[in-house]
Amino acid sequence: MADQSKETTDFGFRKVGKNEKEGLVANVFHSVASKYDLMNDVMSFGIHRIWKRFTIEASGVRRGQRVLDLAGGTGDLTAKFSRLVGEKGEVVLADINDSMLKMGREKLRDSGIVGNVNYVQANAEELPFPDNYFDCITISFGLRNVTDKNKALRSMFRVLKPGGRLLVLEFSKPIFQPLNKAYDTYSFHILPRIGQVIVNDADSYRYLTESIRMHPDQETLKSMMEDAGFDQVSYDNMTGGIVALHKGFKF
Ligand SMILES: C[S@@+](CC[C@H](N)C(=O)[O-])C[C@H]1O[C@@H](n2cnc3c(N)ncnc32)[C@H](O)[C@@H]1O
Repeated sequence: MADQSKETTDFGFRKVGKNEKEGLVANVFHSVASKYDLMNDVMSFGIHRIWKRFTIEASGVRRGQRVLDLAGGTGDLTAKFSRLVGEKGEVVLADINDSMLKMGREKLRDSGIVGNVNYVQANAEELPFPDNYFDCITISFGLRNVTDKNKALRSMFRVLKPGGRLLVLEFSKPIFQPLNKAYDTYSFHILPRIGQVIVNDADSYRYLTESIRMHPDQETLKSMMEDAGFDQVSYDNMTGGIVALHKGFKF
């Protein structure tokens, strides 16, 4: 077996040991958990709600189905899926980070969402679910934080039912060049300052920006999904490719 202490991977723009990344990502989300929702609204000017609505519409989820909201954090998608699947369905909100899961569980319970949602602390790379279990899996702004993305995609493929679909909502490569400079200025200079003011943590938001830049672009992620076994993989760019929604099926 490969020695993980010698293999490296990206943590933002830094190269770190593969065995270090999970702990570094955990620190980021422990630090931002309590202000995560507020920061999402502020830094995206509320647009993340539109990206998520588009994802729900693309999911085709129906009453009685079983859905995995992976890296689900504070549960925005889980809340919507819970209403869609109804009493006979099930939504699993899974996240590696207990601080994020706690925020998610409290938020959903406060808004009266109980009964068909289960909370599981799990690593996307080694999902603790049976084969062919879910009708739909979403991973929203989660994949770029995972150390071994190919392993995670294979794990998602395993637990998806034949006929089921995976939706990956993630930052991607903007397709409209003239906006790149403004996007860079915002991401590298303004965003960390907002993080400093609201969360008292500029570094976590610097990591956010860097991790977005290091994440595979639209076509690369499409190939990775195909390599993991997914069929009919396609994607839709949103907000000029700042974000993309990838969709793939297991047949
Ligand atoms: C940016 S948040 C996204 C939360 C939510 N899905 C959303 O769209 O608002 C990223 C989440 O991925 C989780 N995460 C990071 N690495 C993970 C892994 N290996 N397995 C499962 N979850 C992971 C983090 O704990 C965090 O809650």
